[in-house]
Amino acid sequence: MNLFILCLLTFFTYIYFWIKNRKNYWKNLGFEYIKLEFPYGSFKGIGTEKPLCSGLDEFYQKFKGKAKVVGLYSFVKPVLLVIDPDVIKHVMIQNFDTFHDRYLYYNQRDDPISVHLLALQGSEWRDRRAKLTPTFTSGKMKLMFDTIQNISNQLVVTLDKSINSSAETEMHEIVARFTTDVISNVAFGLDSNCLNNPESEMRKYGKDMLDFTPYDFLKFQFTCSFPDLSRKLHLTANKPNVIDFFYNTFRKNIEQRERTDSYRKDFLQILLELKKSSTLTVDELAAESFIFFLGGFETSSSLISFALYELALNPDIQQRARDEVRQALEENDGKITYELVNRLDYLEMVANEALRKYPPAYFLNRVCNKDFNIPDTDLVIPKGTYINVNVYSLHYDPEYYPEPQSFDPERFTSENVKMRPQCSYMPFGDGPRRCIGGRFGMMQSKMGLAKLILNFQFSPCEKTVVPMRFTPSSLFLESADKIWLHVKRI
Ligand code: HEM
Repeated sequence: MNLFILCLLTFFTYIYFWIKNRKNYWKNLGFEYIKLEFPYGSFKGIGTEKPLCSGLDEFYQKFKGKAKVVGLYSFVKPVLLVIDPDVIKHVMIQNFDTFHDRYLYYNQRDDPISVHLLALQGSEWRDRRAKLTPTFTSGKMKLMFDTIQNISNQLVVTLDKSINSSAETEMHEIVARFTTDVISNVAFGLDSNCLNNPESEMRKYGKDMLDFTPYDFLKFQFTCSFPDLSRKLHLTANKPNVIDFFYNTFRKNIEQRERTDSYRKDFLQILLELKKSSTLTVDELAAESFIFFLGGFETSSSLISFALYELALNPDIQQRARDEVRQALEENDGKITYELVNRLDYLEMVANEALRKYPPAYFLNRVCNKDFNIPDTDLVIPKGTYINVNVYSLHYDPEYYPEPQSFDPERFTSENVKMRPQCSYMPFGDGPRRCIGGRFGMMQSKMGLAKLILNFQFSPCEKTVVPMRFTPSSLFLESADKIWLHVKRI
């Protein structure tokens, strides 16, 4: 018994001194830092009382102009927040070889759909990225265009029906049903039918996968900070019902396409060809389908609904965007084509400004894989350090965007864009690991927006919450309140 108590005492004394020493980790390396408060590290209240973007923004504000980087702790794990755009450029682009991985958790055994392009590391990521890059070439996007157009016509019909019963409409849900139908159809040949059927399974599980409670947020932080321990504990990146549904749906879809031997020029076809050449297993195929599905619907539906919210609050901008679409259509015999959508420059500026104020994936992360000396300083980032970039802070920094709360598409004329430093606008990330589907996301969002503003007038209603607040526990930027707008047929 005495021996047991002695062991316990030794253990806790060791832990005490280890944490004490850990508290000086950044100080000993000469970095500015936010102190470690056990057990949350520097993240107390983040994910529960305030969203990650606001929490990181407080650190950004505190050190902007005083330090290029700030040391933080995720629990007891050191993490570095990069503030200075020049250092961000080194991380994302110039020294990509030192920072090519993300620190996202995956677990092959218990959660096969978590091992996808977003999480893969090293040469596995490089190989996979090269294979999947041809998915969204201009030629492929042109082939997808008719389907996207048909589904956006359906969006207009669905919204029309909805405003017959009430002019006040929650826009995020209806738009998420639109983008779910688009990605399911064009990427997988699956008719998810969410616009006609709000109870569709694809929509239900799409919602479930993003429904993050404060516990889920804490689990995300824990699994990313301690991946080996988390795998031993059988922790999964996704929820069990989400894993089952998407794994089985995508597996069945792959098998059915193989059985019928039908040929479609879509994302699934690229995956099947990789499987034929034995480059990818069925599990890997299902994982890539999953991340394309997630990337394909959530970010674009956020972009469209945030843009509609701002257009409702800024009627002059809404009218100018509508006039641009009308004029382009008049000059093109009333036909919406792929080329026409690409030529809608003002709508593109509106979308860019919406992505500035509301970057759906606001939080970029990398791992440093060898010691890195920050140029023009004595600071060395040790190998293995986790790196954070809070895109949200850059997008609201008045040095780059004066009066950052005001919605002003003019910030995105080509002259104004040139005046800002390179990494001060990153809704799609940057460098070789930037978003693979960004062009597709923009295309479907512009198409959806063009159809909506052509056919409807959007304005605020009593239920519209201004200013927008964000959900604390969500990993994507998500409005804490539903996006209610008054919608009138034109
Ligand atoms: C408005 C739409 C979108 C936004 C704002 C967005 C944003 C992002 C961001 C910020 C990243 C991280 C980039 C980095 O770390 O540098 C990313 C990565 C990624 N996105 Fe998107 N995305 C969008 C649309 C899409 C679409 C439509 C797809 C697929 C159909 C997609 C699939 C992916 C994948 C697979 C990655 C990981 C790339 C890699 O690690 O090689 N995204 N996205």
